[in-house]
Amino acid sequence: MNEMSKEIIFSRAVIQKRVQEIADQISKDYVGSDLVVVGILRGAFIFMADLIRMMNIPCKVDFARVASYGAGAESFGKVVMTKDIETSIRGRDILIVEDIIDTGLTMQYLTGWLSERNPRSIKVCAFLDKRKKRKVSFHADYVGFTIDDGFVVGYGLDFDEKYRFLPDVYVIKQ
Ligand code: IMP
Repeated sequence: MNEMSKEIIFSRAVIQKRVQEIADQISKDYVGSDLVVVGILRGAFIFMADLIRMMNIPCKVDFARVASYGAGAESFGKVVMTKDIETSIRGRDILIVEDIIDTGLTMQYLTGWLSERNPRSIKVCAFLDKRKKRKVSFHADYVGFTIDDGFVVGYGLDFDEKYRFLPDVYVIKQ
Protein backbone atom coordinates (compact mmCIF):
# COMPACT_ATOMS: atom_id res chain seq x y z
CA MET A 1 0.00 0.00 0.00
CA ASN A 2 1.21 3.48 -0.81
CA GLU A 3 1.50 5.14 2.65
CA MET A 4 1.19 8.92 2.63
CA SER A 5 3.66 10.90 4.65
CA LYS A 6 2.02 12.44 7.71
CA GLU A 7 3.03 14.25 10.85
CA ILE A 8 1.34 14.08 14.24
CA ILE A 9 -0.27 17.34 15.37
CA PHE A 10 -2.43 16.27 18.34
CA SER A 11 -1.50 13.25 20.42
CA ARG A 12 -4.14 11.04 22.04
CA ALA A 13 -3.21 12.43 25.49
CA VAL A 14 -3.68 16.03 24.35
CA ILE A 15 -6.97 15.10 22.66
CA GLN A 16 -8.35 13.32 25.75
CA LYS A 17 -7.52 16.30 27.97
CA ARG A 18 -9.21 18.77 25.62
CA VAL A 19 -12.29 16.58 25.09
CA GLN A 20 -12.69 16.35 28.89
CA GLU A 21 -12.60 20.16 29.12
CA ILE A 22 -15.32 20.51 26.49
CA ALA A 23 -17.40 17.74 28.10
CA ASP A 24 -17.20 19.57 31.46
CA GLN A 25 -18.35 22.81 29.84
CA ILE A 26 -21.24 21.10 28.03
CA SER A 27 -22.29 19.30 31.22
CA LYS A 28 -22.50 22.68 32.99
CA ASP A 29 -24.31 24.41 30.14
CA TYR A 30 -26.98 21.71 29.74
CA VAL A 31 -27.80 20.79 33.35
CA GLY A 32 -31.49 19.75 33.51
CA SER A 33 -31.85 19.88 29.72
CA ASP A 34 -33.58 17.41 27.42
CA LEU A 35 -30.44 17.13 25.32
CA VAL A 36 -30.17 15.34 21.97
CA VAL A 37 -26.62 14.97 20.65
CA VAL A 38 -26.57 14.64 16.86
CA GLY A 39 -23.38 13.17 15.42
CA ILE A 40 -22.47 13.77 11.80
CA LEU A 41 -21.35 10.60 10.08
CA ARG A 42 -18.91 9.37 9.52
CA GLY A 43 -16.14 11.59 10.84
CA ALA A 44 -17.64 12.52 14.23
CA PHE A 45 -18.24 9.02 15.59
CA ILE A 46 -15.07 8.69 17.68
CA PHE A 47 -15.14 12.26 19.03
CA MET A 48 -18.83 11.91 19.92
CA ALA A 49 -18.30 8.57 21.67
CA ASP A 50 -15.54 10.06 23.84
CA LEU A 51 -17.42 13.31 24.45
CA ILE A 52 -20.67 11.83 25.72
CA ARG A 53 -18.83 9.36 27.96
CA MET A 54 -16.91 12.24 29.53
CA MET A 55 -20.07 14.29 30.11
CA ASN A 56 -21.85 13.84 33.42
CA ILE A 57 -25.37 14.61 32.21
CA PRO A 58 -27.75 12.29 30.36
CA CYS A 59 -28.39 12.74 26.65
CA LYS A 60 -30.05 10.99 23.74
CA VAL A 61 -28.08 10.35 20.58
CA ASP A 62 -28.89 10.32 16.90
CA PHE A 63 -26.93 10.60 13.67
CA ALA A 64 -27.19 12.40 10.35
CA ARG A 65 -25.12 12.06 7.26
CA VAL A 66 -24.51 14.61 4.54
CA ALA A 67 -22.64 14.49 1.28
CA SER A 68 -20.88 17.50 -0.12
CA TYR A 69 -20.07 17.42 -3.76
CA GLY A 70 -16.76 18.64 -5.04
CA ALA A 71 -13.36 17.59 -6.22
CA GLY A 72 -10.80 15.82 -4.00
CA ALA A 73 -10.25 17.29 -0.56
CA GLU A 74 -12.09 20.56 -1.31
CA SER A 75 -15.83 20.70 -0.72
CA PHE A 76 -17.54 22.48 -3.55
CA GLY A 77 -20.66 24.07 -2.25
CA LYS A 78 -23.49 21.63 -2.82
CA VAL A 79 -24.46 19.89 0.43
CA VAL A 80 -27.16 17.18 0.43
CA MET A 81 -28.57 15.19 3.37
CA THR A 82 -28.20 11.45 2.79
CA LYS A 83 -29.37 10.26 6.24
CA ASP A 84 -31.73 12.26 8.40
CA ILE A 85 -32.09 11.93 12.18
CA GLU A 86 -34.99 9.82 13.45
CA THR A 87 -35.59 11.53 16.80
CA SER A 88 -38.27 14.18 17.27
CA ILE A 89 -36.39 17.37 18.23
CA ARG A 90 -39.26 19.81 18.66
CA GLY A 91 -38.76 21.75 21.90
CA ARG A 92 -35.50 19.96 22.71
CA ASP A 93 -31.92 21.17 23.01
CA ILE A 94 -29.81 19.95 20.09
CA LEU A 95 -26.05 19.69 20.10
CA ILE A 96 -24.58 18.88 16.69
CA VAL A 97 -21.22 17.11 16.95
CA GLU A 98 -18.98 17.48 13.89
CA ASP A 99 -15.41 16.33 13.21
CA ILE A 100 -14.16 19.45 11.45
CA ILE A 101 -15.55 22.70 10.09
CA ASP A 102 -13.86 23.91 6.94
CA THR A 103 -15.84 26.14 4.55
CA GLY A 104 -18.79 26.17 6.99
CA LEU A 105 -21.21 25.06 4.26
CA THR A 106 -22.08 21.71 5.88
CA MET A 107 -22.90 23.28 9.24
CA GLN A 108 -24.82 26.16 7.68
CA TYR A 109 -26.96 23.64 5.80
CA LEU A 110 -27.48 21.30 8.77
CA THR A 111 -28.36 23.96 11.33
CA GLY A 112 -30.85 25.39 8.80
CA TRP A 113 -32.35 21.94 8.15
CA LEU A 114 -32.75 21.09 11.85
CA SER A 115 -34.03 24.52 12.94
CA GLU A 116 -37.07 24.07 10.72
CA ARG A 117 -38.26 21.42 13.21
CA ASN A 118 -38.43 23.98 15.99
CA PRO A 119 -35.97 22.65 18.56
CA ARG A 120 -35.59 24.69 21.74
CA SER A 121 -31.95 25.44 20.86
CA ILE A 122 -29.24 24.33 18.45
CA LYS A 123 -25.52 24.52 19.18
CA VAL A 124 -22.53 23.06 17.37
CA CYS A 125 -19.52 21.30 18.87
CA ALA A 126 -16.64 20.74 16.44
CA PHE A 127 -13.53 18.76 17.24
CA LEU A 128 -11.47 20.87 14.80
CA ASP A 129 -12.08 24.27 13.24
CA LYS A 130 -10.31 25.57 10.12
CA ARG A 131 -11.57 29.08 10.81
CA LYS A 132 -9.57 30.75 8.06
CA LYS A 133 -11.08 28.56 5.34
CA ARG A 134 -14.69 29.72 5.67
CA LYS A 135 -16.72 30.44 2.54
CA VAL A 136 -19.73 31.34 4.68
CA SER A 137 -19.71 32.90 8.11
CA PHE A 138 -20.25 30.17 10.71
CA HIS A 139 -19.35 30.12 14.38
CA ALA A 140 -19.18 26.87 16.39
CA ASP A 141 -20.18 27.07 20.06
CA TYR A 142 -17.59 24.55 21.28
CA VAL A 143 -14.30 23.86 19.49
CA GLY A 144 -11.60 21.34 20.37
CA PHE A 145 -8.72 22.86 18.44
CA THR A 146 -8.38 25.55 15.79
CA ILE A 147 -6.03 24.76 12.91
CA ASP A 148 -4.87 27.00 10.09
CA ASP A 149 -4.75 24.80 7.05
CA GLY A 150 -3.66 21.40 5.81
CA PHE A 151 -5.58 18.16 5.52
CA VAL A 152 -5.87 16.22 8.78
CA VAL A 153 -6.64 12.58 9.51
CA GLY A 154 -7.13 10.28 12.48
CA TYR A 155 -9.53 10.26 15.46
CA GLY A 156 -12.42 9.64 13.04
CA LEU A 157 -11.20 11.88 10.22
CA ASP A 158 -10.35 10.24 6.92
CA PHE A 159 -8.58 10.75 3.66
CA ASP A 160 -10.34 8.59 1.07
CA GLU A 161 -11.84 6.47 3.93
CA LYS A 162 -8.39 5.71 5.32
CA TYR A 163 -6.88 6.60 8.74
CA ARG A 164 -10.14 7.04 10.72
CA PHE A 165 -9.00 4.43 13.25
CA LEU A 166 -5.81 6.25 14.27
CA PRO A 167 -5.99 7.44 17.91
CA ASP A 168 -3.88 10.57 17.24
CA VAL A 169 -4.44 13.37 14.70
CA TYR A 170 -2.00 13.87 11.83
CA VAL A 171 -1.57 16.40 9.04
CA ILE A 172 -0.91 14.91 5.63
CA LYS A 173 2.34 16.08 4.10
CA GLN A 174 2.29 16.84 0.37
P1 IMP B 1 -17.28 22.10 5.16
O1 IMP B 1 -18.67 21.99 4.64
O2 IMP B 1 -16.34 22.66 4.11
O3 IMP B 1 -17.16 22.87 6.45
O4 IMP B 1 -16.77 20.62 5.30
C1 IMP B 1 -16.74 19.89 6.43
C2 IMP B 1 -16.47 18.45 6.07
O5 IMP B 1 -15.35 18.34 5.17
C3 IMP B 1 -16.05 17.67 7.31
O6 IMP B 1 -17.15 17.09 7.94
C4 IMP B 1 -15.11 16.64 6.73
O7 IMP B 1 -15.85 15.51 6.29
C5 IMP B 1 -14.50 17.29 5.52
N1 IMP B 1 -13.15 17.84 5.81
C6 IMP B 1 -12.77 19.13 5.73
N2 IMP B 1 -11.47 19.26 6.03
C7 IMP B 1 -11.02 18.02 6.36
C8 IMP B 1 -9.74 17.51 6.79
O8 IMP B 1 -8.73 18.21 6.95
N3 IMP B 1 -9.69 16.17 7.03
C9 IMP B 1 -10.75 15.33 6.87
N4 IMP B 1 -11.96 15.77 6.47
C10 IMP B 1 -12.09 17.11 6.21
